[in-house]
Amino acid sequence: MHKREKPRTYRVKSFGCQMNVYDGERMAELLAEQGIAPAPDGEEADLVVLNTCHIREKATEKVYSDIGRLVKRGREAGREPMIAVAGCVAQAEGEEIMARAPAVGMVVGPQAYHRLPAMLDHALAGRRSTDTDMPEDAKFAALPRRRKVAPIAFLTVQEGCDKFCTYCVVPYTRGAEISRPFADLVEEAKRLVDAGAREITLLGQNVNAWSGEDGAGHAVGLDGLVRELAKLSDLARIRYTTSHPADMTDALIAAHGEVDKLMPYLHLPVQSGNDRVLKAMNRSHTAEGYLNLLDRFRAARPDIALSGDFIVGFPGETEAEFEDTLKLVDAVGYAQAFSFKYSPRPGTPAATMDAQVAREVMDERLQRLQARLNRDQLAFNEASVGRTCDVLVERRGKRDGQWLGKSPWLQSVFFEGDAAIGDIVRVRLADAGPNSLRAVRV
Ligand code: SAH
Ligand code: SF4
Ligand code: F3S
Repeated sequence: MHKREKPRTYRVKSFGCQMNVYDGERMAELLAEQGIAPAPDGEEADLVVLNTCHIREKATEKVYSDIGRLVKRGREAGREPMIAVAGCVAQAEGEEIMARAPAVGMVVGPQAYHRLPAMLDHALAGRRSTDTDMPEDAKFAALPRRRKVAPIAFLTVQEGCDKFCTYCVVPYTRGAEISRPFADLVEEAKRLVDAGAREITLLGQNVNAWSGEDGAGHAVGLDGLVRELAKLSDLARIRYTTSHPADMTDALIAAHGEVDKLMPYLHLPVQSGNDRVLKAMNRSHTAEGYLNLLDRFRAARPDIALSGDFIVGFPGETEAEFEDTLKLVDAVGYAQAFSFKYSPRPGTPAATMDAQVAREVMDERLQRLQARLNRDQLAFNEASVGRTCDVLVERRGKRDGQWLGKSPWLQSVFFEGDAAIGDIVRVRLADAGPNSLRAVRV
């Protein structure tokens, strides 16, 4: 490496989960504080941060091809972009990236990116640096204030995971479970609302494991935090994701029936509908336990929309075991869901288990599962037609005079008429497609 000129523009590209989106926004603020401007759309940036995800195989390969593309494009334009790799691939494979991709000047883990400005100074002096330390909570303390935000904001309240599902890298890339302090979160939520947020999604790898102490020194769970944030008068909507069945509490379920601002939507991954597979995954719940939990949510909030995550082709999964997953899907009737082919991750116990399932079998199972999930998503949308509900406007639609936003059930809704971003408008849902609904103002 050699001395570099200070970059004038940056771009942060985030992959993976919403916690990475949150982290990406924070990194952008840190760079802006260094006097670096966001690169205009369609223009190459002087500094590119690849905020990576390690959850599945292809994600890692994508990082290397992105680096390759950045270098190639830079060469063609006679310039050399400064590249930083952040996020979970940085955490898991920092040294390998440094060795394999000489164009990368900075590698920064998801718990260390508050040190990005210092690393940038190193890079300007021609030194490459890696920081994958995991100091507890430090990155949050060091974060700058946010000035203006979109109507829909993310707020990381909990990070890390102690569950060690046997297929998953998150406990290794994000570290142990920690909860950010109650007072800090209330303060950050206030700032978000002052800066324009109307909806806040509380984030965590196991968000419902969040715990803290309220202003009076009482122990509170996520429901307590939700109730406190619901007092912010300009905040209209609260959501949270992702939950783990083992951390679900009666109090949080009850909050769904009592706190109007808590939206009727629950993302609760299950992964499989078969108890042997769930055990081999170290999921600590059964299919029946999961279904019972959903029943309790439905009792508290009958219109709640349900969402889940699934993995097909976990090592040893038989056809009959896979069919249990289809049965569970039929029993739940998901409004939305995410399904993946099992991907062996280095260092996880499942990667070395016997009876890895053949790729063609996984492909075929994923297709069958997704056909059902798509069917149910469309059915859920169709069943919503005729409902009157609020839509929080997020952006303009493709057509003139068209606006796009979300229903309480997290459906994408478009409508025409007078509105502005951040408005909450009353609509009647008129037409349903698989991925969105058309509505008319009422
Ligand atoms: N903490 C959350 C989500 C973690 S990652 C939870 O426990 O549910 C998001 C999803 O990615 C998981 O729910 C799982 O469905 C999927 N996933 C994780 N590791 C995977 C792997 N090795 N192969 C395929 N899918 C995986
Ligand atoms: Fe991964 Fe399981 Fe933790 Fe979710 S609960 S992040 S799937 S180890
Ligand atoms: Fe990916 Fe890390 Fe999130 S592995 S899913 S970015 S926690």
